[in-house]
Amino acid sequence: MRKKIVAGNWKCNTTVKEGVELAKSVNELVLTSGAKDVVVVLGAPFTHLTSIVEAVDADRIDVSSQNCAAEPKGAFTGEVSASMVKSTGATYVILGHSERREYYHETSVTLNKKLTQVLEQGLTPIYCCGEALAIREAGTQNEYVKQQLDETIFLLPSEQLLKLVIAYEPIWAIGTGVTASTQQAQDMLSFIRGLIANKYNKEVAEEISILYGGSCSPSNAKDLFSQPDIDGGLIGGASLKAPDFLAIINAY
Ligand code: 13P
Repeated sequence: MRKKIVAGNWKCNTTVKEGVELAKSVNELVLTSGAKDVVVVLGAPFTHLTSIVEAVDADRIDVSSQNCAAEPKGAFTGEVSASMVKSTGATYVILGHSERREYYHETSVTLNKKLTQVLEQGLTPIYCCGEALAIREAGTQNEYVKQQLDETIFLLPSEQLLKLVIAYEPIWAIGTGVTASTQQAQDMLSFIRGLIANKYNKEVAEEISILYGGSCSPSNAKDLFSQPDIDGGLIGGASLKAPDFLAIINAY
């Protein structure tokens, strides 16, 4: 059975102290009142990872970085490798977020290198895909997302693909307050699962958790999570407030 996952992506927010406080609040709320069958992941800045791993209950909360280097080590000033992320105790790495593709020019070539690094370290990639507004308006979002996946994760053998979590995040819904409608989100996630079934097989497609991200909030999470192909959410803004994040976790 595939997992239900609610992952926070804090992006470039919080100091270490603030991040640890937020992580502790989430930890306490989840331990006392969080839906038990939901995997909870906190995607924090690199600088926070070690402290957050220490601050939370490892049996209940997983910690993620939001990126990693494409190379294993060496003269790459400012980079943080997958093995360094692993050494903090974090277990997930968000890869290919649209903000990284857009502002830091991450391409499929770079992302394939990063995927290799993350999988070699035994970390779980949360691999993001999703189209811009112009593509959605042109009605070519399926072709666009298919190409993003064909060039990257669909090059992996099934045993490796099964280690991934996929997150569909339409760029027009990120941080805008405009969520994809429940039907739009379900349609795309069903499309992605269909692609996996065609390329690999139905069993593989049924095993992989696919998340929706983009203005997910306590008020719309229940509808989104009720859909057959939506296995949870990748949450930006609402993950910075512990009660809102808990409400999304408890939307299941
Ligand atoms: P928001 O939830 O703030 O729209 O961000 C979504 C996101 O980018 C998560 O990775």
